[in-house]
Amino acid sequence: MSKVKINPEGKVVLISGSNRGIGRALTIEFLENGAKKVYAGARNTETLADLKAKYGDRLVPVTIDVTDQNTIDQAAELVGDVDILVNNAGILAPGGFLGNEAINSLNYHFNVNVLGLIKLTNAFVGMLRSKESAAIINVASVAGLANMPMLGTYSASKATVHSITQGIRGELANENILVAGVYPGPIDTDMAKGFEMEKDSPENLAKNVIQALIEGKEDIFPDTMSEQVGKQYSTSPKAIEVEFGAYVG
Ligand SMILES: NC(=O)c1ccc[n+]([C@@H]2O[C@H](COP(=O)([O-])OP(=O)(O)OC[C@H]3O[C@@H](n4cnc5c(N)ncnc54)[C@H](OP(=O)(O)O)[C@@H]3O)[C@@H](O)[C@H]2O)c1
Repeated sequence: MSKVKINPEGKVVLISGSNRGIGRALTIEFLENGAKKVYAGARNTETLADLKAKYGDRLVPVTIDVTDQNTIDQAAELVGDVDILVNNAGILAPGGFLGNEAINSLNYHFNVNVLGLIKLTNAFVGMLRSKESAAIINVASVAGLANMPMLGTYSASKATVHSITQGIRGELANENILVAGVYPGPIDTDMAKGFEMEKDSPENLAKNVIQALIEGKEDIFPDTMSEQVGKQYSTSPKAIEVEFGAYVG
């Protein structure tokens, strides 16, 4: 548990990948819970038209491609008042470590899920440090707590996000910034379309994330599956490795 607890009421939030899936649900949930403004990051801001129509001035579309430093620099120049940064943008494709495609697959996932997150965080951390209280929320995955071989390189990128979250938390230990990792299980979004398994809704995830921030939780397991994995992770990480290791596609 962090010493910093974050109530969204009156806060300014920036979310990467806010146009669909989990990012969209978080955008709506922050606004419905009294956030003053959400800077809605998207590669194509036209995809935010319906949210913009609904929330008006409280939703500000911002072009952000986390692989493109120019869009990040422009966003940081445009936006001066962020309290909560949500690193949500992410990609997933099947791929493991053995074979000709391994390096391409690692590059593909790390470029967005890891380097993109670091670039965006560095562009905004100065702003967050200047606040009385602030938060950095990194959307990782249960697949970052143990490797899923059918999604080996994706899992490795999310394991790196987990490690980065711990590292940033340490670097900011003396500041009033809550650094939270979110570790979802399967969530019903475009990303998980091909997975035949029970999935929780992005709306439920978003509700649980907001509640966890209010409580000051650093490790957020925001759905039914991840709650179970979270419990098991604290007692037997090896059991999760064995369970996930069986998913070979
Ligand atoms: N769904 C799950 O089961 C699940 C489970 C665990 C963790 N997660 C994580 O949750 C996060 C959101 O996933 P999701 O399920 O909502 O996936 P999604 O529906 O596929 O949405 C992904 C979002 O990321 C954006 N994005 C992709 N590449 C980007 C880039 N280079 N720059 C900026 N934005 C980019 C997409 O924008 P475009 O519309 O422009 O493509 C989209 O808004 C990801 O980090 C994912 O790894 C998801």
